[in-house]
This record gives sequence, C-alpha cells and structure tokens, in this order.
Amino acid sequence: MLVAQMNNIVKRYGSHLALDHVDLDIREGEIVGLLGPNGAGKTTLIHALAGLNRIDSGSIHCFGKPQTANLMEIKRNLGLVTQDITIFEDLTVWENLAFFGGIYGLKGSGLKKRIEETLEFVGLTDCANKRPGIFSGGMKRRLNIACALTHKPKLLIMDEPTVGIDPQSRNHILESVRELQRSGTTILYTTHYMEEVQSIASRIVIMDQGHVIAQGTLDDLIDNIQHEEKIKIELVEVTGQLLEQLRQLAGVKSVTQEGNKLTIISTVGSGNLDRALALARHAGGIRSINAEKPTLEDVFFTLTGKQLRDGKETS
Ligand SMILES: Nc1ncnc2c1ncn2[C@@H]1O[C@H](COP(=O)(O)OP(=O)(O)O)[C@@H](O)[C@H]1O
Ligand SMILES: [Mg+2]
Repeated sequence: MLVAQMNNIVKRYGSHLALDHVDLDIREGEIVGLLGPNGAGKTTLIHALAGLNRIDSGSIHCFGKPQTANLMEIKRNLGLVTQDITIFEDLTVWENLAFFGGIYGLKGSGLKKRIEETLEFVGLTDCANKRPGIFSGGMKRRLNIACALTHKPKLLIMDEPTVGIDPQSRNHILESVRELQRSGTTILYTTHYMEEVQSIASRIVIMDQGHVIAQGTLDDLIDNIQHEEKIKIELVEVTGQLLEQLRQLAGVKSVTQEGNKLTIISTVGSGNLDRALALARHAGGIRSINAEKPTLEDVFFTLTGKQLRDGKETS
C-alpha cells in the first residue's frame, strides 16, 4: 500500500524553480532515504507533503486520500522532525512533549503514558524535568525527534535529523529509526550524508537541483552504474603530464587526484585500464592498485558529475 504519493510536483520561489516535476512514492513500512546536496529541494518537497507550503502544480495523496480535502486528518497521522530544532528551551523536556502531544489532542493518562514511552524511546527519561537549554546538540536533536513522536504518527518525516551532532548521538538516532520501522512506522528520512541512507534506507531517492535523478534500492542504483570500472592506484609520483595522458584515453570518464593517489573511472571493457596502468608504470612506478566496488557516492558522481562526500560538495 502507498502511504504517500506525490505526482508531478512543481514549486517555484519567485523565478527559482525549487521542484521541477517531482514524483515520489512512499510504501507502507519502508524507510525512504531522500538524499541530495544542500539546495536540492528536499525540505521544500517534504514541507509540501506535510501541507506546510503551497505547490504550484501537481497532486499529493497521503494515506490514500487527496491532501487538499483531508489535510487535518492527514496531519494527525504525520510526524515532522524539522531541520531546525523546534523545541521550547524554557519548558522542561516533559512540558515540551506535553505541549506537542496536546496539539494532537492527547490528554490525561493517555498523554502521560505516551510521554513516558517516548522519553524511554529517545533515552531522555532521566532528563524529564530538565530544561533543554543546557543540553548538548545530540540531546536537543533527540528531544526534537520525541516531539514529533508523542502522537504515534503512521508516517514520520525526518529532515536532516543528525546535523551537527556527535557520532554516538547519531548512531542512537539511526538505531531509533530502525526500531520505529520494526514497530510499523513508515519513515521518510532526508539527509545529505550518504552513509546514513546507505545504512538505514530500504529505498533511496536521490535529488539534485529540484529533480529526482535516481531511485531504487542501493543494489539497484549500483547495478545501474555497473557499466563503469573504477580503480585506485597509488603512484610514486603524480605528474601533470601523466594526468593529462590519462584523461585523454578514450573511455576514461574521470581521473581525480588526492596526493599520490589517483581514482580512474572508465567504461567497462574499453581495455583502457590496462593502458592507464601502463602509462602510470612508465611515469615512475605504481605503489598499489585497488579495484573497488562502486558506492552510492559513485552513483551520485556518475549522474551529476559532482561529488557529494559527507555533505561537502565539490564540483
Ligand atoms: N522560502 C524560500 N524562498 C526562496 N527560496 C527558497 C525558499 N526555501 C528554499 N528556497 C530555495 O529553494 C531551493 C531548495 O531549497 P530546500 O528545499 O531548502 O533544499 P534542501 O532542503 O535540499 O537543502 C534552494 O535553492 C533554496 O535556496
Ligand atoms: Mg533542507
């Protein structure tokens, strides 16, 4: 069953086309990893899904119903973890959850029970009476997530929930997302960190410049670029002349350099890896050779010509 379906979504900010005919399906029980560099349009897309902005054209269905005619009912079953932390620093942790749970109509013992469960879930039980002003970034992020969970949403939308936190809190959050999925929650997880989608997503949707440029499982996406070979060689010395010669070999798509290491991507079967190695040997000797399995980063690079490494983009 489809939990959400977005068809042909167009959204402009003035003359800027932020979403250019985007389609997105979310099936029940999956973790969809929405990956893209800053400015790709991820937040705009999920805000459209949550009914927070007006789209210029296209259609949105959620839980099988058209969004416009059923917005309040849909919102009751959605949780949104915002990209910027939206908690009250002068309320206690408990009061924050009581506030957000209250918005969704929870009260009395039902509210109390859900607050207790949610605090336990995000590991903040011991901090219930503390004010989050003093918290670390990771603890604030966990409270921000808890605020979106008190009302037990069927679809949880998380917008870059791990930005600016330590690795331990990040792992805690990723593990929580897996656990939510096991308990039946469908999750749309937005990030520009590719290792996160690689580790938790059942399906990956890659966006760039307002377009969905690829989607599928990690294996699907990698299979799609298997027409390429990738090899890393470490040399005694890399000269500009060698780089030039390698780049001019027919079939070589890119040569990137990091110190004395070169990464060469070329079309399969062109035989030019042999030629590349011969050139490298001739230019002063090879220290090591490493043929690697393509990664999600290679998929992104192949599709866009840009690198998206741990959020740092280079073009
Ligand atoms: N309220 C706004 N007004 C004008 N431009 C915006 C607004 N929100 C986002 N944009 C622009 O739309 C594009 C997509 O932004 P966004 O959806 O925030 O991307 P992402 O979440 O992938 O980083 C960017 O170029 C951004 O500058
Ligand atoms: Mg964003």
